[in-house]
Amino acid sequence: AGAGKSTIARRLAKELGFYYVDTGAIYRPVAYFFDLWGVSPKDIDGITRYIDELTIGIEYDDEGVQHMIMNGMDVTGDIRTPDLSQKASLVSAHAIPEVRSFLMELQRSLAREHSVIMDGRDIGTVVLPKATVKIFLTATPEVRAKRRTDELIAKGQKADYNKILKDIQQRDYQDTHRAAAP
Ligand code: C5P
Repeated sequence: AGAGKSTIARRLAKELGFYYVDTGAIYRPVAYFFDLWGVSPKDIDGITRYIDELTIGIEYDDEGVQHMIMNGMDVTGDIRTPDLSQKASLVSAHAIPEVRSFLMELQRSLAREHSVIMDGRDIGTVVLPKATVKIFLTATPEVRAKRRTDELIAKGQKADYNKILKDIQQRDYQDTHRAAAP
C-alpha cells in the first residue's frame, strides 16, 4: 500500500496502450459485499453461506478506466475507504479456497485476453508467474504513510499520519503472514 504501484502501473499501461488491472480493486468488492451483510471477514461459515449470492464483474470504460461491478452495481467509488482496505486484507487472508480460485481465474483471464500491466502483491509470484516483465516496487512504511496522508489531505479529507502508519504496518503483517500467497 502506498508504494506507488498503481501510479506507475497506470502510467505504463497508458504509454503502452495496455489494460491497467488493479487487482486490489478485485478483492475490495468481496470485502464490501460481506460488510453489507454484516459478515466478519474471518467468519468462514458466514462467508460460505453467502458466497453464492455474490457476483463480481470487471469492466473497462472508453478511457480504459477499470470499474468493479458487484451484483450488477458499479461500486468503484465505494471501495477505497481505509476500513475496506483492512477488510479486503482480512478477506484475502481468510478466503475460502473457492473465493481465492475464483479471483485468481478472473485475474488470469484478463491477462490471457489482453495485454496488461497488472498490479498487486502476488502477481509475479502466484497469479502470473510467467509474466514477461516483473517489477518489485517497495518503500518504507513511513514514506508510504506520508504519501497516503498527503493524498487524503489533498482530497480535503482528514488524515492522521500515526494512524495511517499503524494501519499500513498492520496490513503488511497480515498480507505477509497469511497461509496463501504471503
Ligand atoms: O492494493 P489494495 O490496497 O487495494 O489491496 C487491498 C488488499 O487486497 C490487500 O491488503 C491484500 O490483502 C489484498 N490483495 C491481495 N492480492 C492482490 C491484491 C490485493 O491479496 N493481488
